[in-house]
Amino acid sequence: MLFHAKHEKISVIIPAAGLGTRIKASIPKPLLLINNKPILWYTLGRFLTNPSVAEIVLVVSPDIQEESEKLVASLRPIMPIKIIEGGKKRQDSVWNGIQAADNSATILVIHDAVRPFFAPTVIDDGIQLLNTYHGATAGVPVVHTIKRIEGKTIMETIPRESLVQIHTPQLFHASILRKVYQQAQSENFYGTDDCMLAEHYGYKLAVIPDTYENIKITLPFDLQIAKMLVKKYESTYWSRI
Ligand code: C5P
Repeated sequence: MLFHAKHEKISVIIPAAGLGTRIKASIPKPLLLINNKPILWYTLGRFLTNPSVAEIVLVVSPDIQEESEKLVASLRPIMPIKIIEGGKKRQDSVWNGIQAADNSATILVIHDAVRPFFAPTVIDDGIQLLNTYHGATAGVPVVHTIKRIEGKTIMETIPRESLVQIHTPQLFHASILRKVYQQAQSENFYGTDDCMLAEHYGYKLAVIPDTYENIKITLPFDLQIAKMLVKKYESTYWSRI
């Protein structure tokens, strides 16, 4: 089974309904400004100019619904963007997004609202990997030494050659992601990323090479890095919006 992007119908689901308590800001994290534009503007912008994307499902908390609608309208997107309400945990928000996505989507891409800096090759490389895998996720090799601890006591060192740090975007055959999410939600099985659900039910997944710049804007410090990265990429990633 060979996949060609032009025969695929890609829906991108963007969970943006987190509270963002770790960043200690008064406004919800997806709306925090970097050089006068909300983080969400940058993240949406990465998909708006991608001709393979048929639809975007933006999952938000009720307190940013109105602002999100204004933001989306200001972007004048060429594809439909649905704005829907999130859930208690990220997984619940993604599940809402999956259910709201067009039934005819063949590939679902899940991407965190707070990661505007993924490598430009990730989506196309991920689509290619779906020729041979059920799903694929952006990731980079772990550069630190990682140890397992109990309390303060070091129990073991995990060989880092076998470790990757997982990011989003994560891409899946739509039928498979729908199936694993349906099952996980009904069994109350929660994972820390979308791939973890597919792994749990025995599916074959791959890593897509990404860049270390694909930070998840989580802590106040990350905003400083994000400002530098916006400057670096403003004339490439967002030049056509
Ligand atoms: O909290 P965490 O860092 O895992 O959030 C990753 C992404 O998931 C963020 O974009 C956040 O807005 C989103 N999220 C969500 N619904 C939740 C919790 C997090 O959409 N209930």
